[in-house]
Amino acid sequence: MSCPFANSNVTQLQSYLAASAISQEEPAAQTYAFDGDANIDSAATTVVSFGETMVSEPVVMDPATAAAADQHKVVYYSDYLRVPELLDLVHPESRTRVRPGLDPAGGPVEAHDEHLFIVVHQAHELWFKQALHDLRSAIDIIGAPTTSAAGLTLATRRINRCRGIMDLCITKLNILKSMDPLEFLEFRDLLMPASGFQSAQFRILENLTGLNPLDRLDYQRESYLHYFSDDDRKRIIQSEQDLNLFQALNKWLERCPALGPDGDQAASQTDTLWNSYEQSVHSMLTQQRKTILDDKKISDEHREHLLTSLKASEDYFKMLIDADEYASVSARSDATGLPATPIYTMTHRALKAAVLVKMFYPRVDQLSAPHQLLNAIVELDMSITRWRFSHSQMVQMMIGSRPGTGGSSGYQYLRSTLNERYATFKDLVRIPTFMLTPDWAPSNVASVAGLTNFAGWA
Ligand code: HEM
Repeated sequence: MSCPFANSNVTQLQSYLAASAISQEEPAAQTYAFDGDANIDSAATTVVSFGETMVSEPVVMDPATAAAADQHKVVYYSDYLRVPELLDLVHPESRTRVRPGLDPAGGPVEAHDEHLFIVVHQAHELWFKQALHDLRSAIDIIGAPTTSAAGLTLATRRINRCRGIMDLCITKLNILKSMDPLEFLEFRDLLMPASGFQSAQFRILENLTGLNPLDRLDYQRESYLHYFSDDDRKRIIQSEQDLNLFQALNKWLERCPALGPDGDQAASQTDTLWNSYEQSVHSMLTQQRKTILDDKKISDEHREHLLTSLKASEDYFKMLIDADEYASVSARSDATGLPATPIYTMTHRALKAAVLVKMFYPRVDQLSAPHQLLNAIVELDMSITRWRFSHSQMVQMMIGSRPGTGGSSGYQYLRSTLNERYATFKDLVRIPTFMLTPDWAPSNVASVAGLTNFAGWA
């Protein structure tokens, strides 16, 4: 932000204040613009930070005077951003605690890199806070009973920002790698049993993205909730119950008008984009089978191979088109054999809508915003996985095969979170399976019913 006093000295600042309508006897009127704290007129301002409480002078002002003073407030950089409070939040344990075998008899000697360790964690928490702020707003927009194209674009930008934040956090992990494992060992034991596993905001981020609580691995035979303070646990449980991005997206996709009315027999006869797609799939598979069977130049062995591949393709399309088949495939466990993880987690109707968006956006302008939204969501999901991966690598570099301070197997545990169980939007990632080559895509999309009012799917 630009500071009006960047090049000024104290005298200039004082004369500016004197020239303004603000009495310097009313210091509260000069500070904390833009937020609820501006009304620090009738009570002491209390800033609670990591267990410490700082109380500023009480300033008593009647509301009318406070409002008038607000109009002329001079915002000072450091006050607005609470810089002193922020900078006072780094408290290395090694500064106050003696480390057996490391500190001389004279008392504790701060481990130099604990400062970096704390700053990187705190910076993560601040950015997680921003990501949650944006994610919640995107969920509200997508999950609303009606949406507009402008709303979708805004939600997409906010989801993209969350993705940017996760990627930014990866670079923070890289900075942490500048700490040598030996330097970490200087203070690591002082942290036990605290662990990043207890980052409530990270858990809320997972939950609001849509990670299914059933997909979480038990942690030392306990639910992850077991390891949090009562307050954090309440917030996390609440986030499991709140509408999440996965549910909001699913609900919105289900309203896609190009699918026709749900469950209506007559719908299969109507001229919807979905019906055009189904017909194209059928024609394409029939033609491909015929081409393989008619080709006299290939060996029987090669033909067998091509037919096997085609059969796999046919099975995928059958699953997409046939609701019963979809239900039975979704109920199966994934390749890891873990029972709680269905292969497809979106509803059948929502997945079909997503396929239409990804398939037809180049030719249907109204699908542009939905297409960007789907891409942003997949990118966000992948950025969380990227963060998990970078964190696990950094952890291995730092502690090798030692158990974590939180008591897990450390790197081994973190590696087990890198599979599909912890990816929320795996259905969207698989959509290219259902794309048709341009020569088989329906050509009359612009005239297909259901494309009006498409963008917001209100
Ligand atoms: C030297 C640096 C770090 C080491 C050695 C480390 C180590 C670990 C270990 C071993 C775990 C597994 C739980 C346990 O047994 O403690 C863990 C989990 C976790 N750590 Fe870190 N970590 C480091 C830095 C960070 C940073 C900077 C963050 C940022 C917030 C972070 C966030 C997390 C989170 C969110 C989990 C839970 C992951 C999950 O359960 O999927 N860690 N960490």
